Amino acid sequence: MFKHIHATNYGIDISRGRLDSFDKEIIKYAFEHKGRRVAVNIGCGAGKVSIILALIGFDVWLYDIDDLREYYARVGEVLGIENKLHFTRCDIRDMFQVSQNITRGAGQENVCAISVPNDIAIAISQRVLHHVPYPDAECVINGLYKNMIANGKLFLSVSGVECKFAGGYTCAREPIERRFCDVGDDGEIYSVYNAVCLYTQSEVVHLLQNAGFIVQDIETTRFGNHRVIVSK
Ligand SMILES: C[S@@+](CC[C@H](N)C(=O)[O-])C[C@H]1O[C@@H](n2cnc3c(N)ncnc32)[C@H](O)[C@@H]1O
Repeated sequence: MFKHIHATNYGIDISRGRLDSFDKEIIKYAFEHKGRRVAVNIGCGAGKVSIILALIGFDVWLYDIDDLREYYARVGEVLGIENKLHFTRCDIRDMFQVSQNITRGAGQENVCAISVPNDIAIAISQRVLHHVPYPDAECVINGLYKNMIANGKLFLSVSGVECKFAGGYTCAREPIERRFCDVGDDGEIYSVYNAVCLYTQSEVVHLLQNAGFIVQDIETTRFGNHRVIVSK
């Protein structure tokens, strides 16, 4: 049921395989959370952690540019959570009507009307945000902040300038606002074929604090991804 063949241009969809320690943090927090149970997953892929949240009663709103409608319909049906999983195929840059001057490839037009809840308690975005230019990432993070409840938490992981696929990343020294290029040969190993904006740890902190979030925890993994937990 969980088999999901992924278009690989945007990196490996880890969420269809193992649950890592960050996923476990999210699940632990979700179990303890009291009040409205609304979660979003931005660039969800196969979204295993989100399926677990739906199973424990969260309404989960999922967004991805990949067409995962059938996959989530099937998961919902088999697990009896079709009324808890709300998948929308879209470009995350369109979620908060923020897209400006973005050139999309064939088949990547604005493919849907996008509905985003405004009482988000848990937001998740793992291994996705570096796939959009920094000004778009800012709009997504600002939009998320506005749509979250007080004390809502965002669990974000984003790839770093020194991550394992950044060997041929020629724009690393560009200012973050203009930093967006291919990663060179290593991209093939990790299925990263499109331009990316890779971050230093302090740039991730700046992005989140600028939106108003309070950083609670940040670490950089051995792979070189920055994992951050912030609250509103
Ligand atoms: C490396 S996978 C990560 C999937 C999942 N979040 C995980 O934790 O493994 C990147 C995901 O981001 C999606 N993606 C990349 N750029 C996107 C965009 N601009 N809008 C929406 N989804 C995007 C891809 O389709 C893919 O599912």
